[in-house]
Amino acid sequence: MISTAAAAAHPNIAFIKYWGNQDDDLRIPANGSLSMTLDGLQTRTTVEFDTSLKADQLILNGEPIAGEALTRVSATLDHLRQRAELNTSALVRSENSFPTGTGIASSASAFAALVMAGSTALGLCLSERELSQLARIGSGSASRSIPGGFVEWQAGSDHESSYAVSIAGPEHWALVDYVVLVSSQHKSVSSSRGHQLAATSPLQAARVADADRRLALCRKALLAKDFPAFAEVVEQDSNLMHSVMMTSTPPLYYWAPGTLEIINAVREWREEGLQVCFTIDAGPNVHVLCPDTEAEAVKRRLTSLVSVRSLLKCTPGGPAWLIEPEISGV
Ligand code: DP6
Repeated sequence: MISTAAAAAHPNIAFIKYWGNQDDDLRIPANGSLSMTLDGLQTRTTVEFDTSLKADQLILNGEPIAGEALTRVSATLDHLRQRAELNTSALVRSENSFPTGTGIASSASAFAALVMAGSTALGLCLSERELSQLARIGSGSASRSIPGGFVEWQAGSDHESSYAVSIAGPEHWALVDYVVLVSSQHKSVSSSRGHQLAATSPLQAARVADADRRLALCRKALLAKDFPAFAEVVEQDSNLMHSVMMTSTPPLYYWAPGTLEIINAVREWREEGLQVCFTIDAGPNVHVLCPDTEAEAVKRRLTSLVSVRSLLKCTPGGPAWLIEPEISGV
């Protein structure tokens, strides 16, 4: 017997970051976070539960994948199977629309699409909250890729209380996120490993203790479309996370020289009156944020910087959604 469903989801960029867990297994975060779902980029995933399969299989961008990624996918499917009281294995086929080598983390869109497709294939009728909770177990930031627009993940303290909700739809604020790709030879340490190291930094406790204040400031600025206030808190939050990363044991340095060139340029442009700010995830690429009215000016300036390898323009996107399953070629 075969039961199939497919879903798509966008990745997201956090304005207030998730870094460090209260519980690594369930991915209950140390602090709440706030993000924008990114239109233009997506993961499309088909899940086929098939009683003739002996074990789960994962095909990513056309390539069979084993090891850590498959284990993580299987563990997430286990939670769905437990709910459905079934133990059928699945074939998971997933495609990212992101241009290769962009360095955009795909785990958020991947686990959001997986949970939506998998639960539908199993006939589970889950609410947005339940989908967000289950996506979170696969990858913390995936909890924020279930709802659309501007999304807050309330940290909570257990599985039930830790999930994300939309606080404003994608039409609320026409913000642009230029994902600026910077050359780098470094191989990044995975976010999952980074989260485990966060508590080794003496700065993590201070970052977490102040997180609710930053979250409230960011939420307020976002709802009021107050760019100057938004810019200050977004950059401070990103800097705090990177301070924790750099002071962990062992230390994590995600920045490349080009990262700093862009940080300095963005700050200079803002002083000159342009509405623009930056935020950086676990890698050297910089997300440069601005209202769409400034987008052309920001793009022109960015393309003049020597460290900028390429640019990807994203705008606020919608929630994860069901799609037509792709016909199995295997
Ligand atoms: C720096 O969600 O990728 O992007 O839960 O281990 O899969 P896992 O980590 P992940 O961490 C994201 C970290 C970040 C900040 C953020 O998105 O909030």
